[in-house]
Amino acid sequence: MIKTATFLISNTDHEKCPAPNKPEFAFIGRSNVGKSSLINMLTNNKKLAKISGTPGKTQLINHFDIDGKWYMVDLPGYGFAKVSKSLKADWDKMIKSYLTSRENLVAVFVLIDSRLDPQNPDLEFLTWCGKNGVPVVIIFTKADKQSKTKTHASVDKFLNASEAIFQEAPLYFITSAETADGKKDVVSFIEEQVKE
Ligand code: GTP
Ligand code: MG
Repeated sequence: MIKTATFLISNTDHEKCPAPNKPEFAFIGRSNVGKSSLINMLTNNKKLAKISGTPGKTQLINHFDIDGKWYMVDLPGYGFAKVSKSLKADWDKMIKSYLTSRENLVAVFVLIDSRLDPQNPDLEFLTWCGKNGVPVVIIFTKADKQSKTKTHASVDKFLNASEAIFQEAPLYFITSAETADGKKDVVSFIEEQVKE
C-alpha cells in the first residue's frame, strides 16, 4: 500500500533529477495510453499526475517521492504524431538518455493499450529496451473498456509478439485506472523490489 506520494521535480535533463539514492520505477508508453491515470490510481491521488484527453500532456521527466522509500517517474509518451519532428527527436533523446543512465532504475513499466493489436511504436520501443538492457515490465491499461475475453486475446497477441524480442514472455500486469484492477499486484511487485 502506498501511503504518501509527493511531487518532487520536473526535468528535461536526467542529470538534474533527484540524487539516485532510492530505487526508482518509471512509467512510459504511447501518448494517451494512461500513464498519468495509472500513477494516480496506484497512489490514490487523483491530482498527482496531470491527466488529459489530449495526447502529449506529459512533456517532462516527473519525479514523485513514494513513502520516502522509492521514486516513481512519469515520462512523456513516445510515438505521438502531433508534435514537430524536432520536438519528437528531443523527447526521444531525453527519454533514452534517462533510461540508459539512471543507475537506480529498477524497472520501466511499459504501458500498452489492452484494446489494440500489437503496434509498431511499442514493439520498436521494446526492441530498443532489449538491446540496451533496460529492465521492462509490461502493463496493459484500460481493461475496463472491454470484456475480459477480449483483453486476454489482445494480451496473448502482444506477448507472442514480444517473445520474439525478449526470447521469453515478459512479466506483465493487467490494469484499469477506472476500477483500480491490478493495483495490488503492481504495488506489491514494486514493494517487494524495494525491500531487497
Ligand atoms: P500523455 O501524458 O499525453 O502521454 O498521456 P497519458 O499516457 O499520461 O494518459 P492519461 O493518463 O492522461 O489518459 C489519457 C486518457 O485516457 C484520459 O482521458 C483518461 O481518462 C483515459 N484513461 C486512462 N486510463 C484509463 C482506464 O484505465 N480506463 C478508462 N476507461 N480510461 C482511461
Ligand atoms: Mg501523462
